[in-house]
Amino acid sequence: MPPLPVPPLSAGRRLLGALLIGSAALTIQQATAAELSIACGPGDATDYCPTLAKQWAEKTGNQVNIISTPNSPTEKLSLYQQLLSSQSGDIDVLMIDIVWPGLLADHLVDLRQYLPDDATDGFFPTLIANNTVDGRLVAMPWYTDAGLLYYRKDLLEKYGYEVPETWQQLTDTAEAVQAAERQAGNDGFWGFVFQGRAYEGLTCDALEWVASHGGGTIVDDDGKVTIDNPRAAAALDQAAAWIGDISPEGVLNYTEEETRGVFQSGNALFLRNWPYVWSLAQSSSSEVQGKIGIAPLPHGPKGQPKATLGGWNFGVSRYSAHPRLAADLVAYITAKPQQKAHATLMGRNPTIESLYQDPEVLDSNPAMADVYQNLVNGVARPASVTGGAYARVSNAFFNATHRVLAGETDGTTAVQQLGRQLKRLGRRGW
Ligand code: GLC
Repeated sequence: MPPLPVPPLSAGRRLLGALLIGSAALTIQQATAAELSIACGPGDATDYCPTLAKQWAEKTGNQVNIISTPNSPTEKLSLYQQLLSSQSGDIDVLMIDIVWPGLLADHLVDLRQYLPDDATDGFFPTLIANNTVDGRLVAMPWYTDAGLLYYRKDLLEKYGYEVPETWQQLTDTAEAVQAAERQAGNDGFWGFVFQGRAYEGLTCDALEWVASHGGGTIVDDDGKVTIDNPRAAAALDQAAAWIGDISPEGVLNYTEEETRGVFQSGNALFLRNWPYVWSLAQSSSSEVQGKIGIAPLPHGPKGQPKATLGGWNFGVSRYSAHPRLAADLVAYITAKPQQKAHATLMGRNPTIESLYQDPEVLDSNPAMADVYQNLVNGVARPASVTGGAYARVSNAFFNATHRVLAGETDGTTAVQQLGRQLKRLGRRGW
């Protein structure tokens, strides 16, 4: 049988062939491009992480999904713990709080396995040390935070008051200006707003009150529980007296953003918050643009000002299917040009030391230049020393503080009970 003649390729088949070649090429490209997920969001209005993640995706040809997580760090942590303990690979890159490396280390990769040897050069060594658990670098620092006092410069001038240096001065000034403003018709005006909800933010605020009274850091660097002392009790009692006097009862449920809302709409004299508030409160849509100042937080009768150290980092999940790419994404977000943009656009304090010599960075926020001071005067939460127990320590502290603020107990009783509770927790070492 003669061979069947091969029919000439019709125009249609040629097109199909070309398409097949095209789609084969497409498939190969898809196989090399990965899909990653990143959990962003420090829980406030200045989340620059999605923008940077998208930049990286465009640059590398990979796809990045932004996973939304709860705003409150306490709730975010529980979600992470649930996902990670089920060894879920749903999130490749996690934004993690400065107090979490010890809690999450077992679930995070050692970034040194994937990053070049000089990856941490130029970063503040204390932050690299904070993020190194049992010799493993579990997160790269992105920005650092420290508590600040924001005040209404215009109102202090109007009524002839100085920026307070002690908590008592803050209380007296707030009472006087609040009364005067209300008399002038601003019924919703308050003296002082802070983060009083029972969550990690209250741990930060209350640690400042306690430490600035000379009342220690809840658990000291040697792991000894120190919270049961009269200065700590006095600090909590003083804060409880603010509720309903210079602070609305609503602060018992306020996180950073609610307090910023009250201050930025012109309804508070003083605000305790982090540096991010500056650029927002000075923006053209803010009621207090040009009317505000920042200062170190006040101190107690026998203490020094103390600013709780905060900040956020990025780590890679051990259950990620793409740890190398995920580490590359982390390196991109935390690299110097991206940190500079974060500082100049949003006033976030970089974690790379040399950026503090950059005039554009220094101009972005008056608190920027104080970072060295903050690293000296700053007070760290007892996260490194309590390691895997830190979440329980912090929960116990903010719950006890919240009960004092809500008038359910007094400072002395609260610190006694808390002291016993924490000693039980740490009885076999942290
Ligand atoms: C800020 C800090 C973080 C802290 C949190 C509390 O985001 O950077 O360290 O835990 O506030 O709400």
